[in-house]
Formats: sequence, C-alpha cells, structure tokens
Amino acid sequence: MKRQPRSSPRSARTQRTVSIIGTGSYVPERILTNDDLTKIVDTSDEWITTRTGIKERRIAAKDEQTSDMGTKAALKAIEQAGIAPADIDLILVATATPDMLFPATACFVQKKIGATNAACLDISAACAGFLFGVEIAQQFITSHTHDIVLVIGAEKLTSITNWTDRNTCVLFGDGAGAAILAHRGSAHGVISTHIGSDGQYTDILFMPGGGSRCPITKENADKNLATIHMSGKEVYKQAVTAMLSASQKALEQAGLSIEDISCVIPHQANLRIIEGIADRLKIPLEKFYVNLDKYGNTSAAAVAIALDEANRSGRIKSGDYILMVVFGGGLTWASTVIEW
Ligand code: ACO
Repeated sequence: MKRQPRSSPRSARTQRTVSIIGTGSYVPERILTNDDLTKIVDTSDEWITTRTGIKERRIAAKDEQTSDMGTKAALKAIEQAGIAPADIDLILVATATPDMLFPATACFVQKKIGATNAACLDISAACAGFLFGVEIAQQFITSHTHDIVLVIGAEKLTSITNWTDRNTCVLFGDGAGAAILAHRGSAHGVISTHIGSDGQYTDILFMPGGGSRCPITKENADKNLATIHMSGKEVYKQAVTAMLSASQKALEQAGLSIEDISCVIPHQANLRIIEGIADRLKIPLEKFYVNLDKYGNTSAAAVAIALDEANRSGRIKSGDYILMVVFGGGLTWASTVIEW
C-alpha cells in the first residue's frame, strides 16, 4: 500500500525529517548459559527455553559499567554515521542501571567519547527508554533546537539481579545499543512515534530499594531490596496489550498497515510475548527480529542492540518500513515507524 500523506498535528508542524544515520551495539564477552544457571538456582534449560525462548545472556565484568558499554556502542554508531564526537549536541542515555544515581550516565559517556559540545541527560523509562529517546531526539531536531543527537540504551541489569530468585534471574542480561539521529535531507526517516505510560502499575515491575524512598542501609542490606521485583504473569498480560496498541497507534499515525512493514523490532523480553503480538497482528513470526535467545532481556538496550544487528546484517534495507515497539516498568510503552 502506498503511504498516505500524514495527517496528525505532529506531522503538520514537522519542519524537517529525522533519520537514524548510524547504529552501534556492544555486548560483554562473558556468556552465561541456561545450563550455567542450573548451578545457581533450581531451574532447567528446558523450563527457561519453553517459557521465555532465552538460551544465554551476557554478563558485564565487575569493572565494566553501563557507561563503558554505552560508550562502545556509541563509538560504532558515530563511525557508521561518519561524524565526529564534537558534532553531537545532545546525548540521551536510557537506562534503569545508571553508573550512579547522579551524575547522569550520559555525562560519563560524554567524557569517554569526547563529545564536548553535547548537553547530556538520562531517561528513566525502563525497557521502553530507547524509543522514548528516539521521540525526544526527533522533537529536538524537528524544532531546530539541536542537530545531531546520540541516543543510547545501556544496561548492567546483572547488577540489580537477585541471583537467588529463579523467577527473575533467568531473564536478564547486559549490553548496549546506540543510534545517531539527524536530518539528512532525504525522505527516509522517522515517520511516526508514540509514547505512553500507566502509573497505576508501578507495583508489578520495580526495584524497591536504592532510591530516596528506601535507601540501602546496614539494617536492610541483606533483604535484596535493590534488585528487580516482578509479577511475571501480570507483566506478561500488560506487555502484550500495550505493545499491540502502541503498534497500531504508530502505524495509524504513519498512514501504513502492518502489511507494509518489512521488519518488526520488538522489545526482547520473552518469545511468548512476541508470538502473542505476531498472532494478534496476524503477521508471521518471521517478520520479527528476535535475538533474545542470545542476550535475554537487556531492558533499554534490547531494541537498540536488535536495531543495530538488523541494520548491519542487511535484514533492514534502505526504503524498508520498520516498526519498533517496546514495553517496560512504569508501565511505559513506545513505538515508532521508520522508513529506513
Ligand atoms: N525455573 C523453573 N521453574 C520456575 C522458574 C525457573 N526459572 N521460575 C519460575 N518457576 C516455576 C514457578 O515457581 C512456578 O512453580 P509452581 O507452579 O510450583 O509455583 C511455575 O514455574 C510457573 O511459574 P509462573 O510464574 O506461572 O510461570 P509463567 O508461565 O508465568 O512464566 C515468566 C514466568 C516467564 C516470567 C512469564 O510470566 C513472563 O514471561 N512474564 C513476562 C514478564 C517478562 O518478560 N518480564 C521481563 C521483564 S519485563 C520487561 O522487560 C518489560
């Protein structure tokens, strides 16, 4: 189907198109397989594979921080974009595992890549953060406030994993993905974006300790409060509903139907969630880019790593319409349609 002219208020005031001109990703060297996990908790490769699709995940080294992984992904994106770090005027790092509560992880990345002209901030939108970053970058670029924006999704989730809880510790991994967004004077680019949240569900996926509400003290240090807490079944239900609705909103705003999409890049949390969405959108699973078998759920990094892999492997090509859709704690969700 030929794309209809955009009619949303946002499209009407868009002054210039915004494209992803470079992508990069990085995952740590160390691999933890499902069999390795059976030595830590009472689980099995069979249970993890059938319930989640995950086979292995990457574990960052002790001295490898979220900003180190974000930096490695960013440098690859910068190289592919053919720009210099000093050309970047905004750095957004989406993460639930910042190096420190402050300063922003984006400031650490700025220092490591030498992006001396950039303003820096972190985005706290859990697994949905990278696409929140794409939306923010688009707004800054279309309004001519900034020209070149580096968006990173980076996580060291294994630093907030409860390794005694088999319900959660089998799900997560570490890594980072990055994208450079800019106007490049062609029709290709971000066609539509949608972001949303529902604060009624702050209690189904969260980390209770480590913030101002419950600082970690000597008295509560052994209660695993600064780790991921999750009601798996509830999250599953909400994830499918929110990602489906977000997909439909981004497509509608873009004036496209799902049949026009060459590749869907979804949040990489659980293969069953992706199958549920494929089923409801009535498209084959083969249209989805899936790498969660190799990395598990890397939260804000997941869709960014998948985008880079799809880009570099030739799975997405110039002119293709791609749909990215994510879901995370908050609850938060986001989607975007891009003409690659
Ligand atoms: N190994 C073996 N058994 C396990 C494990 C494990 N790792 N984890 C849980 N079980 C057991 C449970 O104890 C339970 O046993 P019981 O019946 O004796 O009590 C049984 O397996 C079934 O547990 P359920 O929680 O019902 O398992 P379910 O089929 O719901 O699968 C899962 C759990 C995979 C977490 C699922 O609910 C899910 O995918 N939820 C979505 C959440 C998600 O993907 N979160 C990732 C982070 S969120 C995000 O990224 C947005």
